[in-house]
Amino acid sequence: MKKTQSVREGLRRLPIRPVYLVSMEHDGKRNIITIGMFAFFSGNPALVGIGVAPARYSYDLIRKSREYVINVVDERLMEAVRICGEYSGRDTDKFRKAKLTPVEGVKVSAPYIQECPVSLECKVVQEVETGDHVWFIGEVQATHVNEDYDWKQGLLFKWIGKDGFYYRVGKQMGKY
Ligand SMILES: Cc1cc2nc3c(=O)[nH]c(=O)nc-3n(C[C@H](O)[C@H](O)[C@H](O)COP(=O)(O)O)c2cc1C
Repeated sequence: MKKTQSVREGLRRLPIRPVYLVSMEHDGKRNIITIGMFAFFSGNPALVGIGVAPARYSYDLIRKSREYVINVVDERLMEAVRICGEYSGRDTDKFRKAKLTPVEGVKVSAPYIQECPVSLECKVVQEVETGDHVWFIGEVQATHVNEDYDWKQGLLFKWIGKDGFYYRVGKQMGKY
């Protein structure tokens, strides 16, 4: 039996989502941010988006450079996800702190992350203000994929109260 609940309680019950590391660079300053707010907006053209709060250092860098790279993470990158979601690029070189290697992109000047199994180079085509976040909608320009990577290895993340937990994709339940 369903009970009417607060907005917060309803939202808390939403299913688990992936988490990503987004890298960017502007004027010689590069950075990485942990991002849960990711959405797929269009297949053709290939449009994806990330929601970034204006208080983030990454927000300024993306606004100015109009480019970013979405990097998929697996379980080897859990500590990097924590570091990039806790420290600010204003006072920390997160590539160094999280022991991640920047690689020059082919279509954008934002670096992608070598240790991540999949990277999507994006150029911002639209910026949408939504409440406490701004969505940077980006057209995917190039992708880099580790051939050994299986999408089932992608990391999922869920806040439960004040604690965050990582999960992996579970078992297949049926065929559509
Ligand atoms: C699991 C997780 C998901 C996050 N998702 C987002 C997000 O979608 N958008 C956002 O603006 N901040 C998000 N954050 C917070 C930023 O990663 C965090 O504030 C970071 O330190 C900002 O770094 P910056 O100041 O270098 O940009 C998330 C943090 C964690 C741990």
